[in-house]
Amino acid sequence: MRGTEYLFMLLFWLLGVAATTTFAANVSYDHRALVIDGKRRLLISGSIHYPRSTPDMWPDLIKKSKDGGLDVIETYVFWNLHEPVRSQYDFEGRKDLVKFVKLVAEAGLYVHLRIGPYVCAEWNYGGFPLWLHFLPGIKFRTDNEPFKAEMKRFTAKIVDMMKQENLYASQGGPIILSQIENEYGNIDSAYGPAAKTYINWAATMATSLDTGVPWVMCQQEDAPDPIINTCNGFYCDQFTQNSKKTPKMWTENWTGWFLSFGGAVPYRPVEDIAFAVARFFQRGGTFQNYYMYHGGTNFGRTTGGPFIATSYDYDAPLDEYGLVRQPKWGHLKDLHSAIKLCEEPMMATDPTITSLGSNLEASVYKTGSGLCAAYLANVGTQSDATVNFNGNSYNLPAWSVSILPDCKNVVLNTAKINSLTTITRFMRQSLEDGVSPSKVLQSGWSWFIEPVGISNKNAFMKLGLVEQINTTADESDYLWYSLRTEIQGDEPFLQDGSQTVLHVESLGHALHAFINGKFAGSGKGNSGNAKVSMEVPATLVPGKNTIDLLSLTVGLQNYGAFFDLTGAGITGPVKLKGLKNGSSIDLSSAQWTYQIGLKGEELGLSTGSSSVWVSQSTLPKKQSLIWYKTNFDTPAGHDPIALDFTGMGKGEAWVNGQSIGRYWPTYTAPNGGCTNSCNFRGPYNSNKCLENCGKPSQAHYHVPRSWLQPSGNTLVLFEEMGGDPTQISFATRKMEGLCSHVSESHPVPVDMWSSDQKTGRKTGPTLLLECPLPNQVISSIKFASFGTPRGTCGSFSHGRCSSTRALSVVRKACIGSKSCSIGVSINTFGEPCVGVTKSLAVEASCT
Ligand code: GAL
Repeated sequence: MRGTEYLFMLLFWLLGVAATTTFAANVSYDHRALVIDGKRRLLISGSIHYPRSTPDMWPDLIKKSKDGGLDVIETYVFWNLHEPVRSQYDFEGRKDLVKFVKLVAEAGLYVHLRIGPYVCAEWNYGGFPLWLHFLPGIKFRTDNEPFKAEMKRFTAKIVDMMKQENLYASQGGPIILSQIENEYGNIDSAYGPAAKTYINWAATMATSLDTGVPWVMCQQEDAPDPIINTCNGFYCDQFTQNSKKTPKMWTENWTGWFLSFGGAVPYRPVEDIAFAVARFFQRGGTFQNYYMYHGGTNFGRTTGGPFIATSYDYDAPLDEYGLVRQPKWGHLKDLHSAIKLCEEPMMATDPTITSLGSNLEASVYKTGSGLCAAYLANVGTQSDATVNFNGNSYNLPAWSVSILPDCKNVVLNTAKINSLTTITRFMRQSLEDGVSPSKVLQSGWSWFIEPVGISNKNAFMKLGLVEQINTTADESDYLWYSLRTEIQGDEPFLQDGSQTVLHVESLGHALHAFINGKFAGSGKGNSGNAKVSMEVPATLVPGKNTIDLLSLTVGLQNYGAFFDLTGAGITGPVKLKGLKNGSSIDLSSAQWTYQIGLKGEELGLSTGSSSVWVSQSTLPKKQSLIWYKTNFDTPAGHDPIALDFTGMGKGEAWVNGQSIGRYWPTYTAPNGGCTNSCNFRGPYNSNKCLENCGKPSQAHYHVPRSWLQPSGNTLVLFEEMGGDPTQISFATRKMEGLCSHVSESHPVPVDMWSSDQKTGRKTGPTLLLECPLPNQVISSIKFASFGTPRGTCGSFSHGRCSSTRALSVVRKACIGSKSCSIGVSINTFGEPCVGVTKSLAVEASCT
């Protein structure tokens, strides 16, 4: 090599080293915070689970997360998705973890990778692959060699993958944190002394993988050094670390709750979430993650259970379809900005917490150099309060926190929403545009009637009843239990001339019974108790009778000590009973024939191909066990699409061969227990705020646009109970209107506060309207009132006091513009009523 070439090479090498040393971040922690490149960081994080949306949705979800003020995206890694068969890995499409992490990095956000590999997450079997259960001698989540070997192998596989792509912060990538195990501390007492050995092993194993970034365990009080124990829950302000060396971190702040088939839809008011977050930062927290920021969809058979619904919307700031949920998203965004204004003093020091009276608390972060930020809280649930702080007086509504980035001016109170509210609805396509895409679904159906009972050569016989999961290995939801039995004409239970019943007991989750080929009845468990105890009338004949029981699972258990051993299926007894004289025959230990899965599954009908489809005669409706198929064109536009399965019973649906999940619109929520306006004041729990009572728990099912082509798409359904497929319709998810309601007494909006600080000029509260999509403008003002308007978005009404100018002022300021802002004061509207605190309420629409 010539000298100059050598010099150039050296230079390139030096530049390369310089580049990596510049970008690679050193992540560590101290008792206050995560420390990135020597600097303590206050971090706001949000969970988005990559397989619960599609790769084409990821960039938009990540962008909306960034716009919402997140610094970090958190995801679990789903073992059973990536290794469905031992040693056969899959990282394609929705499973492309590397792509997801890289997209987050491109957006300039960090990643918290919760490898688990036990994840809970309302995910099938908590994320464990079923083959793991069949390894000889295995015991999950304890000091067991076969389990530890597999857990280590998968964890190392993921860590190596990330390292190869340089995705750890130590290598210049976005991953600043990883998690091992998940909430083991909640249940570890059931595992005895081995639990401690296991946790210590997990900690050593994880640390030995040498990722260069810290590891956390959540809800693990005995997490050993250097693992950080973190908090999960609706509130974590009272959490204390298990070590003086670790920072106060909150890995799951539940933004709502998951939905179950048969349950009402849970929601969590944003005022309460904001209160919980502000309380956490008030009391020394420095890392907080929303679980979920986008919940998404449990496509296919990925949902945990039993009975967890296909929608995993979670009432998250981004809804199942990826649309911004307002005012949740916006209020939290404002909250993040307010907290970030306090970052410098917060990172420099611990808070000084003092009582300002009963239920009233102040935290002050004050530095030697004179920086000062304060949080003032009223944790009372009933009464608003006025407090004196630093010589000024502040009004604190019940269950709220005010944030004062300069220890003087309030930029945000968690109970006062300054953000837009939107009304987002499913619109039936046919009503909206005159053309009926559901017309496509009204004709052109073909079908295949699934045989009742055994139809497969691989069926097998066994004495007695078998447990289902051990039998199917979860290759299908379905297991046939079939019996041919000889009934003597002189059986005592047939003698009294009354009805005979078939009595079946099952561990769950649901079953359909057929007697002599005819549907006899169904039974199902619920999310609280999966067991089924069913009695159906049985019409028997003297001689041979067949009893075919189709037992099915609806997502495998994902939580609890030894959850992996929770069985399913018909474990008995199964009896025929005479109703009058009480005599019975127990069939439980008879010779049963078993078939795993359905004929249609064996034929691969979900893709739509196959020659077995029939279409000549009249379309069968209200028929149990039937496959349906049709073709359809994609609804026009860009709005997210759903199929409304009202009219169907229960089953699974595929679009162009991809499963959109289990549908079950006939499982409805109980009639009682819902409230439209849930009082956010006071501790939240997952049953506190429910909606949708008496209605199907889930009627709409997400069909990702990226799975469709403009025309000629195939929809296949397997219907278990009977329905009318011509009633299925398309809906698009649309923002119908947007509202804002701002009071004269609101704090100055956070984003204006900084400019106020610079100019020294006081801006009053303003109401801001902005259309969400790039090409939209405000097209109409449906309602405007300055005075004492009442009601909520979509149903505002004028109060006693109301300025006559409101509507014309707002129309003039807003129509035709993408956004507009209006001062909420008598300077804009005149004085409609002296001595009354007034507010401005507006409802607009964008086109
Ligand atoms: C937590 C768990 C999460 C999720 C959540 C409920 O306990 O860590 O994975 O299951 O509960 O949504």
